[in-house]
Amino acid sequence: MAKILAIESSCDETSASVCIDGKIFSNIIANQTVHEQYGGVVPELASRAHIQHIVPVVDAAIKKAASLTQSPLSVHDMDAIAFTQAPGLIGSLLVGSQFAKSLSLALNKPLIAVHHMQAHVLANLIADPKPTFPFLCLTVSGGHTQIVVAHSPLKLEVIGETIDDAAGEAFDKSAKMLGLPYPGGPLIDKHAQQGDLKKFKFAEPQIPGLNFSFSGLKTSVLYFLRDEKLKDENFIERNINDLCASVQYTIINILMKKLKKATEQTGIKRVCIAGGVSANKGLRNALLQYGEKHHWKIFIPAFEYCTDNAAMIAITAYYKFLEEDFADLTVTASARAEW
Ligand code: KG4
Ligand code: ZN
Repeated sequence: MAKILAIESSCDETSASVCIDGKIFSNIIANQTVHEQYGGVVPELASRAHIQHIVPVVDAAIKKAASLTQSPLSVHDMDAIAFTQAPGLIGSLLVGSQFAKSLSLALNKPLIAVHHMQAHVLANLIADPKPTFPFLCLTVSGGHTQIVVAHSPLKLEVIGETIDDAAGEAFDKSAKMLGLPYPGGPLIDKHAQQGDLKKFKFAEPQIPGLNFSFSGLKTSVLYFLRDEKLKDENFIERNINDLCASVQYTIINILMKKLKKATEQTGIKRVCIAGGVSANKGLRNALLQYGEKHHWKIFIPAFEYCTDNAAMIAITAYYKFLEEDFADLTVTASARAEW
């Protein structure tokens, strides 16, 4: 039996999960609302909120797993303690990593350090049906945009990534220009459902290979809105649904064209998505449509496993546990990290 307690604290969600033999029994997530008024995550406030949330969140994760397994499960029953080591906000990562290291030392249990981006990809292994290896994963979040080949749970290869903004940033920055509050991605998604996606045309970059770029789109939206507002000061309010639909359509096109290229280059037709932006309805639909047209087998994680969560850390830790890939107490959190 492998019982693992996992902790995720890389950005502004404090999360804990219990995984038993590769099955998730709890995934408790405390969101931080303190950032809303600032229009973005404030690192110092995030660290402080993690400190407040971490004990109750871990406690709730163990209690939920205990009730589901109908056993008097406690932290002493865990076989390993896992945590997000990198990448992320350093202050946030330090809270989770120090907590996990302290537990590991106090309980004399092995420690497992998990890479957050690897965990986003392996979120696709949480529920059935799971993709078989190798598979492709488009990971789209607030900080990253990557195409990854998963050769095995622990052997992942990044074959494309953004050279500037992440897809989530493209959503959030466009939303800000449209006067929508942070994080604007889900609001663009909502407005887009009532809009005409071909009403306005925005720049699509011509980047060679499998890399992405979103900075041109941002500039294109900025100048377009500036010019239109000179003609009609209520332009945004009058066209919010069509603007959101058109921006979203452009972002999805940029993503899907590269993903299609990746399936052609690798010959892999099992395609997964991961990360917060994979909650986007337009992207999910586009993926299903491409899948049908090009005979891909599509895998989309449940919403709670797309945005930041500890269940994805726990499932990754499970595969590391099987390989006895443990960290020692000298391991440190890192804001940036290569795979
Ligand atoms: O993976 P995630 O929760 O955190 C990071 O690791 O960054 O991703 C957050 C990003 C934000 O940019 C947010 O606006 C975006 O995911 N997002 C969405 C949607 N839901 C979340 N973007 C577009 N449509 C959505 N429905
Ligand atoms: Zn993330």
